[in-house]
Amino acid sequence: MSTAPSHSRPARPDHAQPWYRNAVGYQVYVRSFADTTGNGIGDVWGVLDHVEHIATLGVDFVWLNPVYPSPGLDHGYDVADYTTIADDMGGMEAFTALRDALHDHGIRLLMDIVPGHTSDQHAWFRDALTGPDAHHRDFYVWRDPAPDGGPPNNWESIFGGPAWTLDEASGQYFMHRFLPEQPDLNWRNPAVRTAMEQVLRQWFERGIDGFRVDVAQGMLADPDWADTADPTPDMTRDEANDLRFSGYMGRPETPELYRSWRAIADDYDALLLGEVYLSSPELVATYIEPGLLHRAFFLPLQHTDWDRDEVAAMIRPGVDVGHGQFAWPQSSHDDPRAGSRFGGGAVGARRALAFFHLIACLPGTPVMLAGDELGLDNGTVPRTDAEDPVTVRNADRDDGRDGSRTPMPWNDTPNFGFTSGTPWLPLGSNRGPGDTVEVQSREPDSPLHRMRRFLATRSTLAGMLATDEVTWLATDDEPTSTLLGLRRGDVVVVCNFGAATTVDLPGDGELVAASSDDAEVDGARLELGTDTTALVRMPG
Ligand code: GLC
Repeated sequence: MSTAPSHSRPARPDHAQPWYRNAVGYQVYVRSFADTTGNGIGDVWGVLDHVEHIATLGVDFVWLNPVYPSPGLDHGYDVADYTTIADDMGGMEAFTALRDALHDHGIRLLMDIVPGHTSDQHAWFRDALTGPDAHHRDFYVWRDPAPDGGPPNNWESIFGGPAWTLDEASGQYFMHRFLPEQPDLNWRNPAVRTAMEQVLRQWFERGIDGFRVDVAQGMLADPDWADTADPTPDMTRDEANDLRFSGYMGRPETPELYRSWRAIADDYDALLLGEVYLSSPELVATYIEPGLLHRAFFLPLQHTDWDRDEVAAMIRPGVDVGHGQFAWPQSSHDDPRAGSRFGGGAVGARRALAFFHLIACLPGTPVMLAGDELGLDNGTVPRTDAEDPVTVRNADRDDGRDGSRTPMPWNDTPNFGFTSGTPWLPLGSNRGPGDTVEVQSREPDSPLHRMRRFLATRSTLAGMLATDEVTWLATDDEPTSTLLGLRRGDVVVVCNFGAATTVDLPGDGELVAASSDDAEVDGARLELGTDTTALVRMPG
């Protein structure tokens, strides 16, 4: 058993259920949240400054993107030291203050653990580079060149180019799923597992409430090092990527790695929320089997348009195999924001809110990215100002991630109150005062107020939250219908992806929440406006 941390944690209201059962998550991309030093980059003190905003929103946990020491080539996902907080992010002092402030508000804190690779500046890799006999050599993945002297196989890096870089001193290649400056750790080496377990314990002892696990489906590579096949034109983007990266992603032995992590996390009542970027919900579900991760993101959901059939094709199988343990992303720092995916501007914002009302009623864990509560779409970032290595290092790629990472607009002052300096990423020329927290706080019908009201109402829907059983509405199967709906416990939830329409309810109901003003219940009829989700409680 572990030693209990010495500071207080939020009280658990219901001891029969883990705290995360119905929790709503709020992702803070710290670099873009609030800068307190004037260097143009957000920091942990900046998160502390806005705890009140987070608390008013009604979310249950905050997930911080990486704030460890890092050269920053992948903006924190190149970790040089797992054991502390970067000085320029505020150091351990800011961490402790934030942890306590969140806990005082009953909000849990998740950090981001990046177990698959380190920075090339990490002491382990510096040591590994000293030669084949180095103590940490086997912490990384080394292979001899192919007979022609080139890389050991045809594997590509996700960020472009080969997944192998030659270490000229030793004549061997090291593997990297991402940048050459992010060498992959060798998870077949038990010493790597032990080292990372110590990292987990250290942070749990410091009172965090869980980890978001970066690239949880990565970790292991094909032990035969076989070339991968090329995708075929009939494949979806996600299927093609699954195949292209199958040499080092989603290996069937990977989920078992999390058995020891789970035992450690459960000692601390902590949540392990995996980023399991695979297209098949069945494969994602192998990571949340008993004794493995508590939750797994279902990320292909971030690749749908505003289209009933596309969303249904994600959500229905996801709910079926997820058993209440899938996490449903609204947006993230890796994909376009929901507002942009669904059309941008006011239309995108309205649809995004409707989408959030839907996913927050599914069994599992809804997670929004800071700024989603304002209905933001992507900030416009000209290519010349790009910061994401996906854009900067690949002239031919247009899937850079800067647009969802532009600074949070707080108020109608220069730089929207994000920084007194020069923001590290443009604010987005499409942003205006109406996008800010300050202005939206004054307007009762703003996305911000609607989100607050919705989360407050959701938390009272005990009859819905108590069950993970879902039945889908008959209209879901009608090819011409624009409706996607479900019944969970005593609540019927219907999202209308098309023009205003009428829905027949299973009986007389009571409208308890809606994402727009265009929803009305009259007995057993629901009048549902365009691009709107309504929640109707069915008595008895
Ligand atoms: C994850 C992160 C992404 C990062 C990558 C490499 O997918 O979400 O931002 O670039 O891992 O660590």
